[in-house]
Amino acid sequence: MNRPPPPVVRPPPKDTTINKPKPVKSQNHSNNANREKILKIFFGTQTRTAEDFSHIIEKECKKLGISCEVVDLVDYDPEELANEYFVMFLVSTHGEGDPTDNAKDFYLWLTSDERPNGLLNNLPFTVFGLGNKTYEHYNAVARVMDKKLGDLGGKRIFERGEGDDDATLEEDFIHWRKRMWPVVCEHLGVELKSTEDDKFVPRFRMVKLTPEHKDSENIHTKINAPLLKPKLNNDNKVIYDIKNPYMATVTANRELHGKDSDRSCKHLEFDIGKNLHYTAGDHLGIYPVNDSLLVEALLQRLEVSGDTLFAMVPIDKAGSVIEASFGPMTLRKAFLEQLDITNPPRKAVLRTLSEYTNDQKHKSDLIRLASEEASEEYNQFIKHDCRTILEVLEAFPSVKPPISHILEFLPRLPARYYSISSSLNKSPERVTITSVVVNFTTPTQRFHQGVCSTWMSNLKVGDQVPIFIRESHFRLPTVTETTVKVPPIIMVGPGTGLAPFRGFLQELQFKRETVYTKEQTESSETMLFFGCRSDTVDYLYKEELLEYKESGIITELHVAFSRETKEKVYVQNKLLQHKEKVWKLLESGAHFYVCGDARNMAKQVQQSLLSIIKEYGNLNDDSEVQQFIDNMQKSNRYLQDVWF
Ligand SMILES: Cc1cc2nc3c(=O)[nH]c(=O)nc-3n(C[C@H](O)[C@H](O)[C@H](O)COP(=O)(O)OP(=O)(O)OC[C@H]3O[C@@H](n4cnc5c(N)ncnc54)[C@H](O)[C@@H]3O)c2cc1C
Ligand SMILES: Cc1cc2nc3c(=O)[nH]c(=O)nc-3n(C[C@H](O)[C@H](O)[C@H](O)COP(=O)(O)O)c2cc1C
Repeated sequence: MNRPPPPVVRPPPKDTTINKPKPVKSQNHSNNANREKILKIFFGTQTRTAEDFSHIIEKECKKLGISCEVVDLVDYDPEELANEYFVMFLVSTHGEGDPTDNAKDFYLWLTSDERPNGLLNNLPFTVFGLGNKTYEHYNAVARVMDKKLGDLGGKRIFERGEGDDDATLEEDFIHWRKRMWPVVCEHLGVELKSTEDDKFVPRFRMVKLTPEHKDSENIHTKINAPLLKPKLNNDNKVIYDIKNPYMATVTANRELHGKDSDRSCKHLEFDIGKNLHYTAGDHLGIYPVNDSLLVEALLQRLEVSGDTLFAMVPIDKAGSVIEASFGPMTLRKAFLEQLDITNPPRKAVLRTLSEYTNDQKHKSDLIRLASEEASEEYNQFIKHDCRTILEVLEAFPSVKPPISHILEFLPRLPARYYSISSSLNKSPERVTITSVVVNFTTPTQRFHQGVCSTWMSNLKVGDQVPIFIRESHFRLPTVTETTVKVPPIIMVGPGTGLAPFRGFLQELQFKRETVYTKEQTESSETMLFFGCRSDTVDYLYKEELLEYKESGIITELHVAFSRETKEKVYVQNKLLQHKEKVWKLLESGAHFYVCGDARNMAKQVQQSLLSIIKEYGNLNDDSEVQQFIDNMQKSNRYLQDVWF
């Protein structure tokens, strides 16, 4: 069910520093003739798709002769916005209709009531949103930003586009660009040329290095690729984030499933010293390493040596191009740590590959696969069959892409996110996650081993892993000195959906021991609904949960076993079995949390919740029930931490 984006812009999470609104500079905006004629392409991304899309726009701008610059929203001073010449936003939505980390500050600035009407006086803009229709707040960020840019007096040159990552994201983007360019070119007075058929335009030059360069300290200066300086906080300490992850040491890696399980789920613990800070409910971002056998096979297919030492140097020096440059490193390291070689290649990659063959059949097949019209064929051959770049190259043996280009047009390996399963208060200097190992056989009979979960499952104590914290809205109820009673808590988390609740329980225990008063916790209730296959196979953290039950931190523990009885029982069924109690707690202000699978579980849990509210709240009308849920969401009493 899609609902309009949440009307209220959330307050910034604790400890977030927002750019303080500065006074609006006086400007003459009756036209934009005096502005520097650079089209700015802003991206808001969490897993790099919007960034990749920005570079597609950048290349098309170059082909059209439009000066442009790709800008990461995190690096942008929004007070400059009104001075721009033309702005294009490519923004994805994450969390529960939230902006991405790199767009958060800009989003808060833009949507703040302090921005005066007319601020953007005629600033030409257009927006493309990246989202996924299976999430409730579809493309919420793009919708809010598009409206706000208009409300502040910007001039919408072309209508907002929206891409659905559950189905046709790339096609949606291609379709939007096809219609957008004629309008934008006309506005800019630029001749419209086809942006489709031209050759790949590299942004980087590949510099091959000799082994002597390897240990040279000033290698970056020598090859003219500026080294990015890490950000420092007010105490001059390095800020670790998605662009500058912290190398944490593994301190534990143990199996959580029983010996009868045919799957594996790992409890991983990292030493973070005093370098990273998190709150129970946050996410851990992890940069994984690709499978070495796959990397060697790919190097062989590309006819290059993994030992080749190289660096990618930007041809021009635009900001985000510099950030995207990499090396010096060996080709092996680049394929292991930097490039996404397992996700099905996008159409843009197939289109580029078609340039590197003289075999007319292969060329035309690749061009067709990449076309807007051949969506069904692309979906079947690439997406449904989960083909990797290596499988595509094997299917088209005449294609010989130069290594310098492939390093540039393959997407970067995105970080994976895990719900933190610990509390920093309870376990100082430590962070833990609970990761189920993903693997499956693809329709082409390739055994796919999930990149990050498989790599992590083999980590040894003492290994180092690049990690960073991602703040979330998934938070325990706020309890202050004046709070009379800790509100009731209902947690629903089957499988690894239990992860953040382990963190919550640790935090609750810590707070009960140190912060909350006896009166505040007296008769306070905490219900946990957990689900797994059976008691002996995959009951995660069973002993710990039973101890929490014993000590009264959990007042009711309900476990749904899906394979113990003839009839499968899931958490949504358990909720209904205990509907009277659930309603009683909801009525007395309970906070309701759901974590885990977004596609099925979270929706079915919501259905159970809706039916409980309908029955006990004496609400006949579905819209009244929805209103009840909306009110819970607005007051942060119904929170979800869900993923596919
Ligand atoms: C906010 C957030 C929190 C998360 N928290 C946790 C957590 O606490 N614990 C946890 O274990 N995971 C969690 N995840 C999932 C985690 O981030 C990874 O997605 C997961 O570990 C798989 O990553 P991978 O690199 O091992 O697999 P990848 O190599 O990325 O493979 C997974 C891909 O394969 C696809 N796929 C999976 N099964 C099949 C199949 N049978 N057929 C075809 N395609 C398939 C998936 O759709 C996915 O695109 C979370 C995700 C998010 C976004
Ligand atoms: C944890 C998570 C939460 C998401 N939440 C939403 C959402 O609320 N609304 C939406 O439209 N899309 C949502 N998405 C889908 C992403 O916006 C979509 O996959 C997009 O293509 C990602 O772009 P990026 O790689 O640039 O971050 C979510 C994706 C994830 C992984």
